[in-house]
Amino acid sequence: MALPRCSSLSPPRPALLLDFLAPSAVRHRQYHATPFYQSTATTQPNSEAPRPKYVLNKKQKEYLDSALRVNQAGELAATLIYTAQTPQVVRSHPHLRPLMKHMYDQEKGHLTTFNHMIAKHRIRPTAMYPVWEVAATFLGWSTGVMGREAAMACTEAVETEIGTHYNDQVREILSWEADAESRGEELDDELKEMLTTFRRIRDEELEHLDHAVENDSKEAQPYDPLVNVIRLGCRAAIKISERV
Ligand SMILES: [Fe+2]
Ligand SMILES: [Fe+2]
Repeated sequence: MALPRCSSLSPPRPALLLDFLAPSAVRHRQYHATPFYQSTATTQPNSEAPRPKYVLNKKQKEYLDSALRVNQAGELAATLIYTAQTPQVVRSHPHLRPLMKHMYDQEKGHLTTFNHMIAKHRIRPTAMYPVWEVAATFLGWSTGVMGREAAMACTEAVETEIGTHYNDQVREILSWEADAESRGEELDDELKEMLTTFRRIRDEELEHLDHAVENDSKEAQPYDPLVNVIRLGCRAAIKISERV
């Protein structure tokens, strides 16, 4: 059933970092750009008319809210990890400067994307934002101190978890698409675009993972405890940010 459409969406707010503690007062969020009245199949007179748009239910909207909240926090963490790692890594391995910059620039792009999305949909950023800032900076700094291999092992661990996380979101939206098809409806353009964006970012994260392995992440000492503890930390951060 179509939920009421938010009558107006505010433009993205630039001072996003300052309002992370403010709870969202907006209850009716909308992930489709088409008026809900168009979702009535009986209004379509012939088969060539556009299909009605799929309208998200409350649970699906909540899923998307928490996914975008986690994505934003994760991308912030990624930029901070690289910011803290890069000076130490390139000091002893100057040839890695372009690679570190390339990965940082992509993370910055991801963060900008999710900053815009959560501002547009008035999603509350995680209240753990300041904690993740400190944790990510410490993680980047400490693995940078440990050396190139440990820094790469950090990237390998983080991207393994984040790649899985984005994959889950892609799979979820694909299940909505299948549901829409079965009803003779289609996803609205914004959701389709979101699906494309999630796939692109997932692929870029997995590209980072490949770069890490190519640059001897497996040679880190001690590899297993280091990677396992970082992966565990990522999973915990994701779970917490989904709710808090
Ligand atoms: Fe990223
Ligand atoms: Fe990444």
